[in-house]
Amino acid sequence: MTAVSAVPTVMAGPDRLGRSLRDVRISVTDRCNFRCPYCMPKARFGPGHRFLPRAEALDAGEIVRLAGVFASLGATKIRLTGGEPLLRTDLAEIVGGIAELGVPDIALTTNGALLRRWADRLRDAGLQRVTVSLDSLDPAVFTAMSDSRIELREVLDGIAAAREAGLEPIKLNCVVQRGVNEDGLLDLVGFARREGLGLRCIEYMDVGATNRWRPADVVSGEEILERVRRVYPLLEETPDPTAVARTYRFADGAGDLGVITSVSRPFCGDCTRARLGVDGKLYTCLFATSGIDLREPLRSGADDDTLRRIVADRWKRRDDRYSELRGLGIADGERIEMSYIGG
Ligand code: GTP
Ligand code: 5AD
Ligand code: SF4
Ligand code: SF4
Repeated sequence: MTAVSAVPTVMAGPDRLGRSLRDVRISVTDRCNFRCPYCMPKARFGPGHRFLPRAEALDAGEIVRLAGVFASLGATKIRLTGGEPLLRTDLAEIVGGIAELGVPDIALTTNGALLRRWADRLRDAGLQRVTVSLDSLDPAVFTAMSDSRIELREVLDGIAAAREAGLEPIKLNCVVQRGVNEDGLLDLVGFARREGLGLRCIEYMDVGATNRWRPADVVSGEEILERVRRVYPLLEETPDPTAVARTYRFADGAGDLGVITSVSRPFCGDCTRARLGVDGKLYTCLFATSGIDLREPLRSGADDDTLRRIVADRWKRRDDRYSELRGLGIADGERIEMSYIGG
């Protein structure tokens, strides 16, 4: 493994709430081949939607360069997200460049539909593991929740391809929505247990400004655990203050289940995540309404030290804790869409 290319001269953090910068989530594209209504509803992301022109998105070299800047500031985990990252034909180049930096944990979040095509190449480039979004095993519910022509079997085949390529451990992300896919929860749990996949159930969140989120649509982590426990007993929570998901092992030893309770039990106090948007803006919260531009200094020749200083200065001023403040009626601007800011 090559060492991180740049020698750190400025360390990031802690921020105003004492949190260090540890992970970076990079959205490599705002495009997606799905139109999940909770993320990119067709009403807003229809044929007329203007995606970011390619010249305005960071290219592979720019993404790798900024990943190096974050790594030299202390980030040890980099997750590539989107949009759908597998729509970028240069994704293996991005993964390869980040792997060469020596970042210990490189992961990818994908909807899985194109994994059969990409899994081997990404593994060869240095990707270690994948997380696949899968909301239902019922083909009709799957189609309603992804709103595209892509069929459930393609995603399941993508998961099989990831396993064959050794991109493990494989995790599944399921957004649980009241009255939409809640009834299929136990099927998903059974599938994950049989296949040795780590299922994480995510509370439906009010990210972005287009999904018409209502508190009544959220199924809480507690309720999810309660329903699962009735069929598959769970042990006490496995403590891990650094993880987003609260994890519980199945009592019979068949793997574990995670719940991500951003709404009912926020975890901002431990939030060590920075986000890099498709256009090179740095965001310090999933619910940010604005970010600072790293692309302009990057393209006008700033050296790594300058970029580090910009990131470190912003991180030092960070006081985000949106999920802890949710519901207090704090007036804010229009939140950035998740496909842009990175899921
Ligand atoms: P692992 O290292 O694989 O456990 O990944 P992770 O803990 O970073 O989780 P992952 O990246 O798969 O995130 C799962 C989901 O949790 C995301 O897709 C978001 O929906 C949600 N999530 C992740 N990070 C944050 C965050 O900082 N704030 C909030 N509110 N939600 C988050
Ligand atoms: N609430 C919760 N999770 C969401 N995701 C996308 N939009 C939302 C939302 N509104 C999830 C996706 C994917 C991950 C990147 O974020 O399902 O698994
Ligand atoms: Fe695409 Fe993922 Fe958003 Fe669904 S949740 S529209 S798959 S980026
Ligand atoms: Fe971090 Fe913002 Fe999520 Fe809180 S709401 S955990 S500060 S990204």
